[in-house]
Amino acid sequence: MSGIPAIAVLVSGSGSNLQAIIDASERGEIPCRVGIVISNKADAYGLVRAAKHGIPTEVVSHKEYPTREEFDARLVDIIRRSGAELVCLAGFMRVLTPVFVRAFPNRILNIHPALLPSFPGTHGPRQALDYGVKFSGCTVHFLDEGVDTGPIIVQAVVPVYDDDTEEALAARILKQEHRIYAMAIRLYFRGRLGRKGRRVLADGETKIPEFFHRNPDA
Ligand code: GAR
Repeated sequence: MSGIPAIAVLVSGSGSNLQAIIDASERGEIPCRVGIVISNKADAYGLVRAAKHGIPTEVVSHKEYPTREEFDARLVDIIRRSGAELVCLAGFMRVLTPVFVRAFPNRILNIHPALLPSFPGTHGPRQALDYGVKFSGCTVHFLDEGVDTGPIIVQAVVPVYDDDTEEALAARILKQEHRIYAMAIRLYFRGRLGRKGRRVLADGETKIPEFFHRNPDA
């Protein structure tokens, strides 16, 4: 297609993050296009979203592969053939093995609905509510071989309210996810992501001012 780099987006469900990425790409806010969308679930709404924008899709059901490694190898094969430069996990609810992670070193991003390293794994918003934190948020990070342990690129913070339900908190977090995923992709393609050990540095980007937020506002 065009000379603009392609990314592969992996989804398992609604795909609202995928939509935010497609929209950012169509508005020219990120210098890449979504070249392929892959889902492990045939009924994922993210596949419908992709089709509406003329983006090729593939379904790879994990149930059809005897081992995680064989499933991952199939994903690697599809992504390599698509020519994607970057892989974005966007609500992809499978733990990926080293077969996948090592195929695209420093080229896989994941979004997680909590301020990592707190509340990794599933049900980030529920874990935050149960723990009783007063702020939570979301994180975009590079994928490594652990579960939600990779180097952090961007985080956004939201308050947790006393009358929150899991759904209300998840929706508040999701709004911010849509903003920071595109931001992380933009930083990646600008080649501005420096590294100092585990720390990812957004070289040359504006520092946010220091802030003081407290919750409750007593
Ligand atoms: C998002 O909240 C994402 O952070 C979360 O699943 C949701 C997918 O929403 N991912 C995880 O919990 C991964 N551990 P979406 O399909 O509407 O983008």
